[in-house]
This record gives sequence, structure tokens and C-alpha cells, in this order.
Amino acid sequence: TVKAVILAGGKGTRFWPFSRSHCPKQFLPILHQQSMIADTLRRMLRYLPLEHIYIVSLEEYVPLIREQLPGFPPQNIIIEPMARDTAACIGLSALHMLMADEDPVLITLPSDHYISDPDAFHEALQSAVRRAEQEPCVVTLGVRPTRPETGYGYIRIRTDHSDSAEECAREQRAEQITAVEKFIEKPHLSVAQKIFSDGCHYWNTGTFIWKASTIMHLLKLHLPDLHDILMEMKDFMRNPTDGSETLAVLYGNLNKQSIDYGVIEKCESIYMIPVHYGWDDLGNWNALERTEQPDEQHNVIHGLHQGLDTNRCIIYGTSNQMISTVGVEDMVIVATDDVLLVCHKERTQDIKKVVEQLNQQG
Ligand code: GDD
Ligand code: MG
Repeated sequence: TVKAVILAGGKGTRFWPFSRSHCPKQFLPILHQQSMIADTLRRMLRYLPLEHIYIVSLEEYVPLIREQLPGFPPQNIIIEPMARDTAACIGLSALHMLMADEDPVLITLPSDHYISDPDAFHEALQSAVRRAEQEPCVVTLGVRPTRPETGYGYIRIRTDHSDSAEECAREQRAEQITAVEKFIEKPHLSVAQKIFSDGCHYWNTGTFIWKASTIMHLLKLHLPDLHDILMEMKDFMRNPTDGSETLAVLYGNLNKQSIDYGVIEKCESIYMIPVHYGWDDLGNWNALERTEQPDEQHNVIHGLHQGLDTNRCIIYGTSNQMISTVGVEDMVIVATDDVLLVCHKERTQDIKKVVEQLNQQG
């Protein structure tokens, strides 16, 4: 069998103040009328039946899931006691499957991405699933990078002639599953610039295809502490003596670790399927310029706006308030009911820091 687990426990702070900790990015209608997670589910439903689709998230987001995905089976929501990043929630999801005496191929995927061509996405998933059924490996979907982004993972594909750009180009045209030589998670800008221009790297889209047993095996190999705690949790779930408090204590002992740093970077057996559709993580406000058509002044505008000599701005109003700008360039302006954000377009990665400061101040 094939099952999908949608990862939906991230906080998405770079989209503040539209995203808030009580309503992160995946639950917001950033691109369409419906939320990112509803888009994700709809996309997966073209490929898998509802009963084979799971969501892993935090207790506090369950009401949002119920509200936004009314028909979603409650028993398919895997609840984490607290957020411990993606290695832990993927491990917990694999454990959930294995405890039901199943070892499906799992598609573990983000809940907040833009994909322009769902059919091409499904075709790629099919090839990936075939490979994951054949051998214990992890398969990821890769896209050609268009800028030296430091917020993504990079995949170097394996070629016969190690460094030839020509060879890379040939491999890429083949559009076939390719063995991965090296995986580099979120490189520094200087490294990103170098590997962006060499033509032999792809971006990791964060969708992984692997068997539940392979996930467990890789965790045991690369993150033995996480694996041990999951095994202890399994024992508790089999004999639930004092219930959820103990599970929460065990899970709370885990370090926050992403699957990319914790496992994928260290894996030996990785494959990549090159995909060519429009893809975006919508990681921060600047992403709107890539997914939407800016107007003649190169502005992207949502909500009520009136402007004079306003160029290359991203203006996003969620309340009935009119946003009026004069002689403004390269700014992000976001107005919600209780917050007004004014940020230079080059500084949107730092919005995260403002949110951290606010959290510290309580
Ligand atoms: N359930 C749960 N629990 N979900 C989580 C948690 C958690 O603790 N932390 C993150 N997630 C979810 C997010 O909501 C998102 O859907 C997905 O997992 C990926 O997490 P991000 O935090 O957004 O990862 P990233 O964007 O920095 O990096 C990953 O994705 C990039 C592509 O978008 C990596 O896989 C990169 O290599 C990749 O390029
Ligand atoms: Mg992301």
C-alpha cells in the first residue's frame, strides 16, 4: 500500500503577522480562497483515497484541521505531544503505521507548498513509489534552482563523469530517476552561489517517499536517540499505564532536529526524480512575487490599496482598512486587525527575529 502523511505542525513565522502561532501558514489562504493545507489535501486526493492520507500535527491545531477539512477522518490525525521538528514527526508517523502492522510506502510531504501542475506531481510520485517498493531507499523530488536560495536543501546528482557540467545537463534532460551523490541542507550563501551556478544541483522540494520500515531503519542508524525514544513510546502505547503524560514526557526529551540535517544528509541510498513544474515553498513574503503576476508598477497587492508612485512593493491587507502609499519602493506592508508590518523587501527573512523578540516579551 501507499500512504501519505502531510506534515502540518510548523509555525511559519516568516509570514508574520498574517501567520500567527495560533494559525500558522499552512492554515492560511495565502494563494487561494482555501488554505494551503486544504490545497495540499485536494492535490493528494487526486492520487490516494482519503483513508490513506494522514496529517501529523499538534493538538492545538486539531480544531483548525477539523474546521478547514471537515470530512477528514479524525483517526487519521497523528498528534504529537509538542513540536520537535520533522525528524521526530516523521518517525512518529512511521511508528504509527508499523504499530498497525503495516509497512506502507509513505509519502511524507509539507503542507504549505505551491505546485503548478498536480498531474506532473502525481506522475513523479508514481515513479518514486515504484522505486521505494523495490529497495530500501529514500526518494525525493528535485527542481532546478532559479536563484542561490539559502533556505532550501540542494541535491547533487550522480553522474558517470564526476564533474562535467555537460554530463549533468544530459542527465537532467533524461528526466529519469537519478542516484544522489550528495545532499546539502541550507548552505551558506557563498556555497549556494557556487553550487547554483555549476548546473549539477537541484533543490530539494521536501517531499520524501520511503517505506515506514526504511524510515525506522535510517533513524536507528543516524538518530539513535530518537529511535530509542520512539521504541519506548511504542512500549507505552502497547501497554498504556499512565497514558499521554508519559508519552509527552518522552517526546519532550527529544532534541529539535529536522529530517534533512538529521537523516537525509547522512543517507547513502537516495534517489531523486527531477520535476519541471512550478514549485515554491512560499517561505516568506517575497514568494508572492513569484507566484502571482505583479501589476504594471511591479507591485503585488491584496486588499484595499490606493497608491501614488509606489513601485515593487508587496502590499497585503487582511482587514477593511485602506492602505495608502506615496513614493514608496521595495517595501513589504502588511496590515491585519491588530498588527501593521512595514519591512524592507531585503529583510523579510528577519521577520522571524521580530516574532522571537515579541515571544520573549510575552
Ligand atoms: N507535524 C510537524 N511537526 N510538522 C512540522 C514540524 C513539527 O515539529 N516542523 C515543521 N513541520 C512541517 C512544516 O509545517 C512544513 O510543512 C514541513 O514540515 C517542512 O518544514 P519547514 O520548517 O517548512 O522546512 P524548511 O522549508 O525550512 O526546509 C525543508 O523544506 C525545503 C523545501 O521547502 C527542507 O526539506 C529543505 O531541504 C527543503 O528544500
Ligand atoms: Mg518550508
